[in-house]
Amino acid sequence: MESSEAIRPEKMGPLVMTETWNTPGRIVSWERSENIYIVRGECGGMVFVFLSDDMFRMKVFRGEVPDLTTTEAVLAERCIPHLFPVEETEEQLIFTTGVITVVIEKTTFLLRVENRDGKVIMQQNMTSWNPRGASHAEYDMQPDSHFYGLGEKSSFLDKRGEHYTNWNTDVFAPHLPEIEALYESIPLIIHMHGELTYGLFLDNTGRSDFDMRSHGVAFTIGCSTGAYDIYFINGPEMKDVVKRYTTLTGRIALPPKWAIGYHQSRYSYMNQQEVLQLARTFRDKNIPCDVIYLDIHYMDEYRVFTFDPVNFPEPEKMIAELGEIGVRIVPIVDPGVKKDPKYEVYKEGVLNKHFCRRLEGDIFFGEVWPGISAFPDFSDSRTAEWWGDLHKYYTDLGIQGIWNDMNEPAVFNESKTMDLDVMHFNNGRPVTHEEYHNLYGMMMSKATYEGLVEHMAGERPFVLTRAGYAGIQRYAAVWTGDNRSFWEHMAMAIPMVLNMGLSGLAFAGPDIGGFAHHTSAQLLVRWTQMGVFFPYCRNHSSIGTLRQEPWSFGEEVEGILREFIGLRYRWMPHIYNLFREAEISGLPVIRPLILEYPRDPRVTNLCDQFLLGENVLIAPVYRPDTDHRSVYLPEGCWLDYWDGEIHEGGRHILAAAPLHIMPMYVKAGTFVAEGPLKQYALEEVQETVTFHLYGAEQGEEFSALFNLYEDDGHSFGYRRGEYSQLIVQAEGTGDGLLLNWSYTADAYKPVREMLRFALCYPFFKADAVDGLPEISLEELEQGRKGWTRNGKNGAIIIQTPDERSGGGLRIRAAE
Ligand code: GLC
Repeated sequence: MESSEAIRPEKMGPLVMTETWNTPGRIVSWERSENIYIVRGECGGMVFVFLSDDMFRMKVFRGEVPDLTTTEAVLAERCIPHLFPVEETEEQLIFTTGVITVVIEKTTFLLRVENRDGKVIMQQNMTSWNPRGASHAEYDMQPDSHFYGLGEKSSFLDKRGEHYTNWNTDVFAPHLPEIEALYESIPLIIHMHGELTYGLFLDNTGRSDFDMRSHGVAFTIGCSTGAYDIYFINGPEMKDVVKRYTTLTGRIALPPKWAIGYHQSRYSYMNQQEVLQLARTFRDKNIPCDVIYLDIHYMDEYRVFTFDPVNFPEPEKMIAELGEIGVRIVPIVDPGVKKDPKYEVYKEGVLNKHFCRRLEGDIFFGEVWPGISAFPDFSDSRTAEWWGDLHKYYTDLGIQGIWNDMNEPAVFNESKTMDLDVMHFNNGRPVTHEEYHNLYGMMMSKATYEGLVEHMAGERPFVLTRAGYAGIQRYAAVWTGDNRSFWEHMAMAIPMVLNMGLSGLAFAGPDIGGFAHHTSAQLLVRWTQMGVFFPYCRNHSSIGTLRQEPWSFGEEVEGILREFIGLRYRWMPHIYNLFREAEISGLPVIRPLILEYPRDPRVTNLCDQFLLGENVLIAPVYRPDTDHRSVYLPEGCWLDYWDGEIHEGGRHILAAAPLHIMPMYVKAGTFVAEGPLKQYALEEVQETVTFHLYGAEQGEEFSALFNLYEDDGHSFGYRRGEYSQLIVQAEGTGDGLLLNWSYTADAYKPVREMLRFALCYPFFKADAVDGLPEISLEELEQGRKGWTRNGKNGAIIIQTPDERSGGGLRIRAAE
């Protein structure tokens, strides 16, 4: 006998379905309610919220009442609706801010954003959704369109011709150009066409797709679940978009200085002795280092918030001993909590309902390093607070930084993550994991960051994360996951981290040397040379691979790595300044050339070189056995950092790059601020700063400005005004140079007697510095005031007391 099961639909062959996509239809009415514009169509509508002259939000709604909630990405204080005039004609609804005009066609809902000259910045053609809850919209693309942003993605800088999915995924291998989703999801696209640039940010934490490949004259943005909630962010320059996007989703918090030093990691340093020995080796060899990471083996059978009693029996003692030589520990903390009724964290989590559950109430279990594990539901503030508080275990030991990994969340199963029907409490507005997925990692890092702040008595914490969503920059630095020791992966790290920077993630970097596979001497050298100029600088490698600590390949390699890691420390005042700029303006620490030279067609997809800030051009060597490379210098004059040679920009040059040299150039008429070489960032030494002024040809007039920001480098005191700001100005005149400096803020007083100015340009062959004696280099080192011509490449170095009242000097060039 057969039951009805015999005719189950799925036994009857594949179902033929025609995909129906609905549009809102023609506009039937609109209204304004508390400065929010609700525009209703025949079958759905859109809400418009103007956040400023340059930014507005459009959210599609289907029922009667639009839902205006946002995700955690968006800062609530940025969501205040502003009132702008709206005009209605027979065919159109027209909103006008001081800067843009938004025109909506009544019959089609087609939407156009124009600038004051009537030029079309953006056109959204069709917004539609299907009965299964997916939505998408189509946007015009021009022949000269270029696309940037999207956070952590493989392939080149310009995303034209690419298709990407946002779905945080643990991809151990392969990180190929065709891999559409990695660990982070930042659904922001920056579209540049001609002289116009704008951004679109889709605030949707489920799966979303950006397709710049399939539609010829259009690109599409879609999501498979949840709301179509998109923000238009005006340019006209790319910098404007980045600055505005980061007012919406937040900016990095200035990290403690030690977090931007050199970090050493390995999966795993296996015991206390090995860690101590490693730290001592750095010091013995005079290779600067601030942090050693503890990967999963430090724990007791991978239970978070524990130390292995056999291999790490005295963590407190170890940490104190490391502290004496200026090395800090950053332990890994994954979200998976081992299922073990005798384990306090698990017990507490179950008893207090902190773990993710299905609707029916059963806890979701998945396998990760500790075996079967439960996963905290960070969407519940109660749980987030609990998790944050658990970090007291670490802070009590003197730990100030935490490494969040596997927080996509990664699960060892077919889907690689949590089941989609698991629920997140979401503070009383429950959502499925399918809708919430991309936010999980960020909420873990947020809980971690806030817990650390709570327990660190005014010190700045450091959190590193693998997974994240838009806004993650407020809580954590991001590293790019499990790359490999391939030259191709070194090269790919450049566009990846540059686009992350354009997407708000100013503090990011790859595993230097490559994580999986085996590095080589040359690859480690070239990758470290590049990596010391990336915002986040950590050497990390996997279990079972060749060791890649800086001394692993003999003395020559060790010497080169010492030099370059040392360079990062000498450049710390400069780099720290760029971090401060990122905190204030949202602009990234390292930048693609297109950000600074948007009118130069040769840099739209240039990503085998990059800028540190505005003025230093870094051109890494990313192929083996290569001792020359082509470098593109944009407009202006550029000085070779190594030999001072001047190059006219706007052209390619061939740079010599023997193994110990990575080509670097400084733009003429700018400063680089160098400090003393330290073995760790907070080492207490005389903080003599040398302002290297890179000038041009003799006789050329120019003016250069540098604003040196300084604070204690570790506390939140700077937020209460405890910082100093030294403005240095140089005026190049026909026959010399005027230098002026003054403090515009001086609440922080560095340990410093003297300031130095190094004049690194050819025309300063000699002559005199008014009011200062000529001295020898030795006298300069002994702290005497005066000037000497014995700097690198014959540069003049001036040394003068660092007085709070500032100062000025006139320097005469030789005839
Ligand atoms: C993941 C991380 C890697 C870490 C390893 C063990 O693969 O991406 O960095 O070393 O897990 O914890």
